[in-house]
Amino acid sequence: MLNMEKTKIAVLVSGGGTNLQALIDARGKVLQSGEIVLVVSTRSDAYALQRAAAAGIPAVTVERKGKTQQEFERGLTEALSAAGAEMLVLAGFMSILSADFTSRWPERIINIHPSLIPSFCGKGFYGLHVHEAALAYGVKVTGATVHYVNEVPDGGKIILQKAVEVLPDDTPETLQRRVMEQAEWVLLPRAAEMTARALAEKRN
Ligand code: GRF
Repeated sequence: MLNMEKTKIAVLVSGGGTNLQALIDARGKVLQSGEIVLVVSTRSDAYALQRAAAAGIPAVTVERKGKTQQEFERGLTEALSAAGAEMLVLAGFMSILSADFTSRWPERIINIHPSLIPSFCGKGFYGLHVHEAALAYGVKVTGATVHYVNEVPDGGKIILQKAVEVLPDDTPETLQRRVMEQAEWVLLPRAAEMTARALAEKRN
């Protein structure tokens, strides 16, 4: 990364944080143009928070439960502004963002989805449900997609995709693991770098 200011990245999480870990491990390697300045979790018990702490990255919890969408997004926006975040990476983030929120971050929010969109995506397709549906359908190939986030769940412009073979004896769990290892953890750092670099070039 030539002497351009790095793009400030906030990573939004809700669970185990394996995709966050892939981003952390990519720092200084695939991820050259962006700096992870904040991790925001919607749950105080998310293991992703332990990963952030171990990596020395500031983290906050903005609980989703017990709040209206507006109250939740106000808390989110306050945390993001305080950190000076310029782009968001949704990494196992399990809450919906309103059109009002996403419209303020045009082509600045990216999400990892564990299928080859437009297959097995949209309302109700998250986590293991995605792989259960792929196995039920009998697809021979699945994979992961990184896309920009807009008001349509999993509906934004596709950035990167990577195919993964479905094996005859796969369970939803073995398939999920392979899609994470072979696709998600490879694509998300690449897509974060592409987006961070594009924003850095726009700024300079
Ligand atoms: C994964 O299935 C990922 O594809 C989806 O959320 C799940 C958990 O991800 N986005 P992580 O381990 O919390 O990153």
